Amino acid sequence: MTRIPYLSAFAVLHLVLLSACSTPNGQPQKGSEQVAPNQVVDFGTLYAQNCAACHGAEGRGGASIALANPVYLAIVDENAMHKVVANGVRGTSMPAFSQSAGGLLTDEQINVITSGILSRWGRKGILDGTNPPFYAAKTEGNVDHGKLAFGTYCASCHGSEGGGTDKGSAITNDSFVALVSNQGLRTLVITGRPELGAPDWRANIPGKAMSDQEITDVVAWLASRRVQSPGQPYSASNDPLHHHSEPLEKSK
Ligand code: HEC
Ligand code: HEC
Repeated sequence: MTRIPYLSAFAVLHLVLLSACSTPNGQPQKGSEQVAPNQVVDFGTLYAQNCAACHGAEGRGGASIALANPVYLAIVDENAMHKVVANGVRGTSMPAFSQSAGGLLTDEQINVITSGILSRWGRKGILDGTNPPFYAAKTEGNVDHGKLAFGTYCASCHGSEGGGTDKGSAITNDSFVALVSNQGLRTLVITGRPELGAPDWRANIPGKAMSDQEITDVVAWLASRRVQSPGQPYSASNDPLHHHSEPLEKSK
């Protein structure tokens, strides 16, 4: 039942590794036998069948970010989530689920999933008293400032050029940046991956949160590491920031 129209070799590898410990794909869930697939409106069933393989059972994270992250859920809004689930993220392994985009879920089913994620896993007030960054970037970002911000906030774990250390993996090599969108990078910087020990935007340096602009700039620098090679699957025409990485890279 899990529907995954396009998978990069990278994602397939993760799925193979994950399938050993998550719900077996293709097995109807208990109790769903009599219900036609497009009539299923139970959150647990829909999540397990469509999302758990990549985002983890109970939203606790897998190859992709944990959705049961209350910091993430306090920053993203339901509309943005609905859009991502309906249309997917082009150039990444995040599939489009809406029937209008070639998927198998109805709009109602997508609403059940997004509102279920927010109501079950969100925690109201968790960011009270903080000054959280915007979910989406307001400006393009400055690559040179981003490199400096990376040195300040990220290099201690990921290395001065992002090549990795024993405290954080390599994140500037093309095999990583080519398969993640700019919003995907921004989300990772804002929310971290608490399930893997990656700090959120407040905790890279204890007591020194990143500003919204620093987050935008660091993402611009990471995005500028993408190599534009012909034949690469990456194409983020739905991503307003992406087309700027090409001229910026050439002018260096
Ligand atoms: C084959 C793997 C895969 C499956 C299945 C999958 N996702 Fe994703 N998802 C991803 C990846 C990879 C990303 C990051 C995309 C990017 O780089 O922006 C993502 C991103 C997201 C985001 C956006 C995170 C952000 O930056 O705000 C949401 C929300 C999301 N997925 C929800 C879901 C839901 C709900 C389902 C099930 C209906 C699902 N995903 C199924 C791989 C998957
Ligand atoms: C205290 C150490 C530490 C700091 C500081 C840190 N990270 Fe991380 N980061 C991690 C760990 C641990 C992970 C999860 C495991 C891994 O991929 O290494 C991670 C994961 C990531 C990932 C996801 C990698 C993947 O494969 O999904 C990105 C992107 C990332 N960090 C970017 C950054 C950026 C940008 C900064 C600075 C703004 C930063 N990190 C600061 C430790 C850190």
